[in-house]
Amino acid sequence: MVYYKDNLIRFILNEKTIDTDLPPGMVLLDLIRYGEHLTGTKIGCREGDCGACTVLVGELIGEDLRYESMTSCLLPLGNVAGKHIVTIEGTNMEGLNPMQQAMADEGATQCGFCTPGFVVSLAGFCLSDKEATHPNAIAAMDGNICRCTGYKSIERAAARVTELLKERSKEDPISFAVRKKLLPDYFATIKERLSALETTPLTTHHSRLTIVGGGTDLYVQKHEEIVNAPIHFVFDDPAWNGIRKEGNTCIIGASATVTDLLDSSVINEVFPAFRRYAKLISSTPIRNMATIAGNFINASPIGDLTIFFLALNAQLVLSDGKIKRELPLRKLYKGYKTLDKQPAEYIEQIHFELPGKDSFFHFEKVSKRTHLDIASVNSAICLELKDGMITSAGLSAGGVGPVPLFLAKTSAFVAGKEIIDETIKGAIEVMKTEISPISDARGTKQYKTLLLGQLIKAHFMELFPAIATEKLLK
Ligand code: FES
Ligand code: FES
Repeated sequence: MVYYKDNLIRFILNEKTIDTDLPPGMVLLDLIRYGEHLTGTKIGCREGDCGACTVLVGELIGEDLRYESMTSCLLPLGNVAGKHIVTIEGTNMEGLNPMQQAMADEGATQCGFCTPGFVVSLAGFCLSDKEATHPNAIAAMDGNICRCTGYKSIERAAARVTELLKERSKEDPISFAVRKKLLPDYFATIKERLSALETTPLTTHHSRLTIVGGGTDLYVQKHEEIVNAPIHFVFDDPAWNGIRKEGNTCIIGASATVTDLLDSSVINEVFPAFRRYAKLISSTPIRNMATIAGNFINASPIGDLTIFFLALNAQLVLSDGKIKRELPLRKLYKGYKTLDKQPAEYIEQIHFELPGKDSFFHFEKVSKRTHLDIASVNSAICLELKDGMITSAGLSAGGVGPVPLFLAKTSAFVAGKEIIDETIKGAIEVMKTEISPISDARGTKQYKTLLLGQLIKAHFMELFPAIATEKLLK
């Protein structure tokens, strides 16, 4: 759903209702700082990496008001229509709010440039229904970088905030935050105000619309081009969203985000380790924005989700608005950033067969930092077994070629074999014949080849610990 009134984008910024005729493709950060002069939201990287521009985005989902952190440098105005945006100024109370006080008391700020982003992320933690634990508080800040204080004092501040939430029990987080004076009273009125926000869809007659989902890649790569472009915003459109199961097939809307995957009962049931994998994928604010289809179309040779779904043999439904066709994800990539896709075509839906009880799936990623970093090499595997034999295999790898790779020869090699160290060592030799890594900032080609071999071993050792023999480790 896209909310507009008379072609104005309407939303609530802190306490104030905003009607703006600024281009829907302009990023929220620029409206906040240059239009509304709320300079507490900082500009660091403008690429979603530093978290200095973090805001909270509140959205009515049915009867619930749900807040998520997002980086305003990558967030187009078209995606905030009908929502509540919270900047650091919107968390201000008389004196310091408890999150700010915790940061001050623990000496968690020096130059202060990153501090508003950390405080906003902690405010988001207070407004979420996540259990009040210290690890969850720290995880809420995984998109924020500090370059001078050091993280231990920030973690201690997070511990203080966690303590403030301990007696929340089952109370609605927003009511609790207002009642306990963690956040200003006006938060209690937002649900009603959003329900009453009068809006109608924007009409546009342009024939060549740029499709924008979460914007996390497009605004890094093409910011200038896109600000004034005619855009079709699909991020909030129900027709482009949702994750559901039909029979044994999982069907995913193109605008579903990584967070949607994390919250999906279908995904969590079949991939119990998905939460662990997702922690390696970007950061909380980016996971809240980045769409699965966007990851595929970006065609990055190291796209984490692309590698994940290549192993699962995901199928794409492509459409140009009139004609639809199906294409295996494994056939989408023809060369570096070259796709088997017409300019007018877009991904409408993704579907894949859910692995059964005899299937084994695993994902591995190595990067220089755990959070907020792109992979040096990543890889996923999906195996189906019968009587101890591999009956089918899907093995994928990123960072070892110009496109995200489905390792067809390696997959074919392991199919029909036993899970023994000879199979794994043989697979690694076959893998070397179908990759073409280059030396770059993330490592030499020799390192990446060696690394992928280690990741293949790691897949088998994680899935079948009994084969973790010393022989294999050599
Ligand atoms: Fe760095 Fe937005 S300015 S994440
Ligand atoms: Fe200076 Fe964090 S306090 S960057």
